[in-house]
Amino acid sequence: MLGVIPSIVRTWKSTNSVSGYNWSTIRCFSSTGEASNVDEYLWLMGRARYKPVIECCGGTEIGGGFVSGSLLQAQSLAAFSTPVMGCSLFILGSDGCPVPKNKPGIGELVLGPAIFGSSTTLLNADHYDVYFKGMPMWNGKVLRRHGDMFELTARGYYRAHGRADDTMNLGGIKVSSVEIERICNEVDDCVLETAAIGVPPPAGGPEQLVIAVVFKDPGNNTTAYLQLRMSFNSAVQKKLNPLFRVSRVVPLQSLPRTATNKVMRRILHQQFAQLDQTSKL
Ligand SMILES: *[C@@H]1O[C@H](CO)[C@@H](O)[C@H](O)[C@H]1NC(C)=O
Ligand SMILES: *[C@@H]1O[C@H](CO)[C@@H](O)[C@H](O)[C@H]1NC(C)=O
Repeated sequence: MLGVIPSIVRTWKSTNSVSGYNWSTIRCFSSTGEASNVDEYLWLMGRARYKPVIECCGGTEIGGGFVSGSLLQAQSLAAFSTPVMGCSLFILGSDGCPVPKNKPGIGELVLGPAIFGSSTTLLNADHYDVYFKGMPMWNGKVLRRHGDMFELTARGYYRAHGRADDTMNLGGIKVSSVEIERICNEVDDCVLETAAIGVPPPAGGPEQLVIAVVFKDPGNNTTAYLQLRMSFNSAVQKKLNPLFRVSRVVPLQSLPRTATNKVMRRILHQQFAQLDQTSKL
């Protein structure tokens, strides 16, 4: 079994750096850490005679995973087929209440509070405030916050849509950074990866969409860079919403990441908010 994270698969695919390896004895892949992408994972399976990718999503503070793939069920790319043993999952509707079980939809994922191995105390913060304060009840128990956006598809698979904190509000429309990034990553061959950040203008008002871009070849991107804002703009408008507008593109050497390789959009958010203020002076 070969364990991967989506970022490393993206790099392998874009640089074709694993082409010389014989992976015929791999029985399956496992993946965790970030929301994955159908095209990239189909490509990954293709490296090893289309063996399955078993995805798992969880958190340190719940002692492991809460939703997973399984070799005992039909699998769907970039999706999870089952809550893990001992976990119950709920998706919150726009009214903040859990939508009925098995009803397709998208929203913030919350957990039934009884999970083996989940934390009960927190260093340097109040455990109740962080995980339970303001959460809805279910069967007499307060549900546990987790902070991921999840979709339950009509065919009964779960899909991850990034962190709930990573949603932004563009002209009154709530949209997840991950959705925008998925579109921008495919706009041009010179793009390795992107991060979509909603930056409030210094004087207040609606968030503006800033795209941080990392190039495959950082030394050779001048022409591409000049056209990129237009390309991002038309792709986002065509595939997501005609009202969205990319206000700026910021080239970076790499995206800031946590030790477990999650993009720290909060850091980019702070940087870009400051950039905005200095450029206005
Ligand atoms: C890959 O490895 C398998 C198992 O060791 C072997 O049977 C096969 O011939 C190898 N394929 C290539 C292209 O080297
Ligand atoms: C930039 O890329 C073009 C082709 O895409 C190539 O012809 C050129 O030599 C490259 N320049 C540098 C400085 O790498």
